[in-house]
Amino acid sequence: MATHTKPEIKARTFGENIESDLASRFLRVVETAAIASAHTMGRGERKLSDQVATESMRQTMDSIPMRGVIVIGEGERDEAPMLYIGEKVGAEFPDGTEVPEVDIAVDPLEGTNLCATGAPGSITVLAASERGGLLHAPDCYMEKIVVGPSCKNAVDLDAPVAQNLKNIARRLHRDVEDLVIIVLDRPRHEKLIADIRAAGARIRLIGDGDLSAGIAAAVEGTGVHAVMGSGGAPEGVITAAAIRCVNGYMLGRLVINKPELEERIVRMGIKDKNKIYEAEDLAPGKQLIFAATGVTEGALMKGVRFFGEGTRTSSVIMTLRTGKVRFIDSIHLEKGPDVRVKF
Ligand code: FBP
Repeated sequence: MATHTKPEIKARTFGENIESDLASRFLRVVETAAIASAHTMGRGERKLSDQVATESMRQTMDSIPMRGVIVIGEGERDEAPMLYIGEKVGAEFPDGTEVPEVDIAVDPLEGTNLCATGAPGSITVLAASERGGLLHAPDCYMEKIVVGPSCKNAVDLDAPVAQNLKNIARRLHRDVEDLVIIVLDRPRHEKLIADIRAAGARIRLIGDGDLSAGIAAAVEGTGVHAVMGSGGAPEGVITAAAIRCVNGYMLGRLVINKPELEERIVRMGIKDKNKIYEAEDLAPGKQLIFAATGVTEGALMKGVRFFGEGTRTSSVIMTLRTGKVRFIDSIHLEKGPDVRVKF
């Protein structure tokens, strides 16, 4: 009897063409998830908004030819039904054609409350890299400072707030009074907010969404000059991928303040809990893709708009190696005899 050996599937790390190819596929992942969650906008059901984004992302990802692994996701396997840490996603060709190995960090809906209340700033977002290109961060807080390219090495997590602001202002050739700093509106930031106010800088307090705020701070012309304070560590890793693509600067330090977190980071192989990470440590990939679509209005992207004959989305897609930052305005048309496209 003839024996049939299964053709060996040789996985490869992705090269320049594959990065470009996957970028457009990941764009579709964030666009479709944004459309799904935008249908729930303002319904006051944050879990539902998150669930539909997660389901949509998972479904679209499974159509992408890749061996994907979720390294940052909706939680541990036992607490999240899909897009959990370690979950495999993607499609393989039955004939054994090579597919790339990809690590993926997702935040299917960043700013679940913002979407549930129709407030600005919610996005669907992911970052992807070759294997090992994104830090497997624990689900804890991270102290962060995010600034633009001209403020590289001008800030320090341990420096007094006033000193950091002075340095940022000097690099941006403006007065401290002319800076706008985004801070999550949380009781834990009471002192930080008081220090920023005392230094004379202006503050924009946000209810949620320090990830998109970080990107806004790293891009010139948004009217935002820095993000300061602690937010989610997983969001920090995804922010770092974008920061690398736009040549910004970011510092982060995990907030390990509970015995269970101490144990968790040991299990994850993190040796120094006080380590200060730069964007290159959080997202060390040689090749990175960052993709996000606005769900509600934001500084960089408009929210999803439904208009009878179709849907309009506003996204950003960035790739590190190929050095592209693309702002994409897409019209997703319904099929029908009366469809019209407006400029
Ligand atoms: P969700 O996407 O889960 O709604 O979280 C949004 C967010 O505001 C992040 O942008 C931020 O990093 C984190 O939550 C802050 O956490 P907390 O609400 O516990 O302060």
